Amino acid sequence: MDKTQLDALEKYSSLAKLVRDTSLSSGRKEVDKGKDELIWEDVYKKLECKPNGSFLDIGCGFGGVTELCLETAAKENWKLTLFDIPSVIDALHQHLDKNILKNSNIFSGVYPTTTPTAFCEQKFDRILLYSVIHYTDNPKQFISKLVSQLAPQGKLLLGDLPNVDKKGRFLASDFGRKFEAEYQQCNVDSLPHYQTHKGYVKSITTQQNKAINDELILWMHEHFRNSGYNVFTLPQPEHLPYSHTREDILICKN
Ligand SMILES: C[S@@+](CC[C@H](N)C(=O)[O-])C[C@H]1O[C@@H](n2cnc3c(N)ncnc32)[C@H](O)[C@@H]1O
Repeated sequence: MDKTQLDALEKYSSLAKLVRDTSLSSGRKEVDKGKDELIWEDVYKKLECKPNGSFLDIGCGFGGVTELCLETAAKENWKLTLFDIPSVIDALHQHLDKNILKNSNIFSGVYPTTTPTAFCEQKFDRILLYSVIHYTDNPKQFISKLVSQLAPQGKLLLGDLPNVDKKGRFLASDFGRKFEAEYQQCNVDSLPHYQTHKGYVKSITTQQNKAINDELILWMHEHFRNSGYNVFTLPQPEHLPYSHTREDILICKN
C-alpha cells in the first residue's frame, strides 16, 4: 500500500469514529453542507443512469451522497454495491438506515490492493468514484482496475478530480485570486501571484496530490481511447463545492 493510501486510511478511519454529522463525513467543509443533492443530481445525469442496472460506488463514505444513491437504487431497482475501507463501512452500518442498506452488497477493503476476490470478478453497468482518486500514489493502476470492472455499455465516472494544473490555472487568473481571497477571508494582496499554473504546481508543499494533473487526464484519454473506450472530460456546474478547481472524467465501454 502506498504512503498516500496509508494516510487516507488514517484520516478516514478517524473521521468515521469522530463525525456524528454525516453531511460532514466526506471531509467537505461546513460551508458546503447541504450540497449533496446537487452533487448526486450531477452524477446521476453524467452517468445516464437507468432502472434495473448494477451500480458500484467505490469509496462511498457514509454521507449524504451515499444516502441519495441508496434511495435512488431502491426506487430504480438497481443492484447496488458499496465499497470503502473497513472503518468507514462500520460507520455506514452504524449511521444509515438498516432497511435501506439491506438491499445492497457491501464490501470493505482498500481498492485495488486488498479486495475480496468475489468482488474483483464482478462487472458493473455504472461505476462511481467520487472524490477518491487523490488518495493513491498510483492513480493509473487504480483507474485501470476500475475500467476492467465495467460491463459492456458500462460507464465509469471519476468525479471531483483535484487536478493541480487546473487549480493552478484558476489561481493564476485575476478572477481566481479574488475568489480565493474571499474563500480564505483574506486580502487578495496577501496571496501569491502566480504568472502561470506551473508556478502554483511548483509551490505545492502540502498534502495535495500532484499525481492528479493534466498528464494523468491526457493519459486517460490516450490510453483508454486506444484500448477501445470513449473518454470525455466534463466540467462541474458552478454550484458544486470545488467546481473551479476540479473536473470529472467519464469512461464509456462499447
Ligand atoms: C472524500 S471521501 C468521498 C466520499 C464519497 N465518495 C462522497 O463523495 O461523498 C473519500 C472516501 O474514499 C475512501 N477511500 C479512499 N481510498 C480508498 C481505497 N483505496 N479503497 C476504498 N476506499 C477508499 C475513504 O475512506 C473515504 O470514505
